[in-house]
Amino acid sequence: MRHFLTLKDFTQEEIIEINELAISIKKETKEKVMKKYMPNKTLGMIFEKSSTRTRVSFETGIYQLGGVGLFLSSNDIQLGRGEPISDTSRVISSMVDMIMIRNDSQKELEEFASYSKVPVINGLTDKFHPIQLMADYLTICECGLKNNIIVAYVGDGNNMTHSWLMLAAKLGFELRVATPKGYEVDKKILKDALKIAKKSGAKLIISNDPKSAIKGATVVTTDTWVSMGQEEEKEKRIKDFKGYMVDAKMMKLAHKKAIFLHCLPAYREYEVSTEVFEKYAPNIFAEAENRLHAQKAIMVWLDRKRDEK
Ligand code: CP
Ligand code: NVA
Repeated sequence: MRHFLTLKDFTQEEIIEINELAISIKKETKEKVMKKYMPNKTLGMIFEKSSTRTRVSFETGIYQLGGVGLFLSSNDIQLGRGEPISDTSRVISSMVDMIMIRNDSQKELEEFASYSKVPVINGLTDKFHPIQLMADYLTICECGLKNNIIVAYVGDGNNMTHSWLMLAAKLGFELRVATPKGYEVDKKILKDALKIAKKSGAKLIISNDPKSAIKGATVVTTDTWVSMGQEEEKEKRIKDFKGYMVDAKMMKLAHKKAIFLHCLPAYREYEVSTEVFEKYAPNIFAEAENRLHAQKAIMVWLDRKRDEK
């Protein structure tokens, strides 16, 4: 049995295999061929934080696959009142076929998975957002950039940045990360990614220089400066991120065929200008829709792995 907790646990071949499955499931969905890959299966969806895309894509996805999703807000289950993770995991996993969790801590997610009898999917933690990266990679491939990926990530060194590091390291492409001083990526995650990159040939460039990061990039991306749970730091962060907004002037430095991606929600005139957001809206909303297709593929893949044993 496999979990989907971080891309670090997946080989390059497996990431490509899941992406190819997403491409074929998306094609079927577009042709209105809804193959019931997971008939009568139940997906438990535990949310300790807000969500639009993750909730709607998983709930719709499992339904389209022939199963059903259970939305479990941590405020409504006993977990929110202090029932241990180990007990919650053993109980829920005895009744459902797969579990997705969005929580505050990668460590707690891993603890939950260690007690689970069924595959567990990371729906975003403090450290990683791997399902988002599968949708982003699918979008990059659809834009015809698969063989020329140079990603510039400009912004906060957060769960999205860490996931980009893992994807680049696994797939062997060039990733340039520019963060303000004091908002750099997690050192341990960077060390892991650099180690993986040695094998794959990925180039990981870390700096505090957004302009040189963007120069010639084929994919420019960013994320909110204020992640969920950091609301109290908002004023300070806005000051510290001065010069990091992806605006038209910055995009001019990128490759002429560059696309702009954003996992959403986006905060205009902070991490991205309204002008850039609207210009690249087709890419951004294709990326958002790809959450559905990529996650259907992840669920089917995990379900098949479970059956293999
Ligand atoms: N990108 C993303 O995960 O969106 P939600 O927070 O709306 O799920
Ligand atoms: N970094 C953001 C991503 C939201 C999808 C957060 O954790 O809030």
